[in-house]
Amino acid sequence: MKPEPLIVGLDVGTTKICCIVGEPDSEGGINVIGVGAAPSRGLDRGVVANIESTIESIKEAVEQAEVMCGRELSDVYIGISGSHIAGMTSKGMVVIRDREIRETDIHRVVDAARAVNIPADREVVHILPQEFIVDDQDGIREPIGMSGLRLEAKVYIVTAAVTSAQNLIRCANRNGLHVSDIVLQQLASAEACLTQDEKELGVAVVDIGGGTTDIAIFTEGTLKYTSVVSLGGNHLTSDVSVGMRTPARHAERIKRKYGIAHVDAVSADEMIDVPSVGGRPPRSEPRAELARIIQARVEEILCAVAYQIEESGYRDLLAGGIVFTGGTSQLEGLVEYAEVITGLPCRLGRPRNVKGLADIVASPQYSTGVGLMLYGLKYDGADRFRSRDGGMFRRVRTRMSEWFSELMAAMF
Ligand SMILES: Nc1ncnc2c1ncn2[C@@H]1O[C@H](COP(=O)(O)OP(=O)(O)OP(=O)(O)O)[C@@H](O)[C@H]1O
Ligand SMILES: [Mg+2]
Repeated sequence: MKPEPLIVGLDVGTTKICCIVGEPDSEGGINVIGVGAAPSRGLDRGVVANIESTIESIKEAVEQAEVMCGRELSDVYIGISGSHIAGMTSKGMVVIRDREIRETDIHRVVDAARAVNIPADREVVHILPQEFIVDDQDGIREPIGMSGLRLEAKVYIVTAAVTSAQNLIRCANRNGLHVSDIVLQQLASAEACLTQDEKELGVAVVDIGGGTTDIAIFTEGTLKYTSVVSLGGNHLTSDVSVGMRTPARHAERIKRKYGIAHVDAVSADEMIDVPSVGGRPPRSEPRAELARIIQARVEEILCAVAYQIEESGYRDLLAGGIVFTGGTSQLEGLVEYAEVITGLPCRLGRPRNVKGLADIVASPQYSTGVGLMLYGLKYDGADRFRSRDGGMFRRVRTRMSEWFSELMAAMF
């Protein structure tokens, strides 16, 4: 018997690369059967900066996952991030041919909406439906079968620098992996951490990783806004390293063990051991000093998040608040401090809706990897993915099937 095809998420992050292998089950769910993680050394703020190191890290993560699941991996869904990512809303309009909206009208109207000028150095990563307008009736999510004269579509287009996307694909290909699709990292994290109710109600997912903080805003069940802030846990570590005068590897350990988002949460007499540089003996320092250093940077990150949410214009529609995920979201007191700074209800998001080795991937730093796998499960089988490799940069290829999958997922 031929084994079930596997769905693999490959999260190429700034601090770690992880590979999550899933086997779909008969109930439409997915069993995690393999996990591999390796330190990432070739990325800078979410973008591949050193191809050879990235190839090596991917190899390590993939091999680990292959050993765990006892299968060879061939196709992966890969995440993309970095300050080069841009999102914009676009509108298109067509006349409805037979007065009744059919699939072909949806294709036509989305084609019209995506017909915006995209510079040659940018690649379309996603085209996601926001709403349809039939004649003057707006806010329609499922227009097929409706009657009218004029159909309008509002879509959200995400683009990335061609070179960044190309480098990711190259790193996967050099490991013998075919890239089924490239997915915006925060969309993947949202897939793993958010509930459909939250997306309907209005929610922001904020993935604070090592090099970037990725934001995605959903209202009425669809993606409305994305943004990437080039700040993350690495900045906290280097602040601790400089501020506490300790080597980076110790700073990382101290941050994880004693780090806390707000100085008021630490008692003044609490002391911690800090290794020194240059062979000097370790020192005992107040934990409040560490908290002071961390709070300054956390505040900067959270203020940037609050600013982006305000800028999006959707702040007042976020009844579901903010879901924080990514490794840095585990910093003690971060979620509570975020409530103070943003004035919105906040919670910690972990991957959900997976079975099998679910406990191994239940941590916030696996949200993107698990989400990439879940994204693959949701959109599997659509042929759009095939032309990604090699032909990826032929922009003529539309992203219609993604569009339809979204629509169908919303309908059924
Ligand atoms: N308990 C903890 N407290 C504070 N920070 C933590 C903790 N655990 C992990 N981190 C930090 O999380 C960061 C890594 O998070 P994550 O694995 O989500 O990043 P990444 O995906 O590699 O990077 P990016 O998404 O930015 O490209 C590191 O900076 C690490 O120090
Ligand atoms: Mg990440």
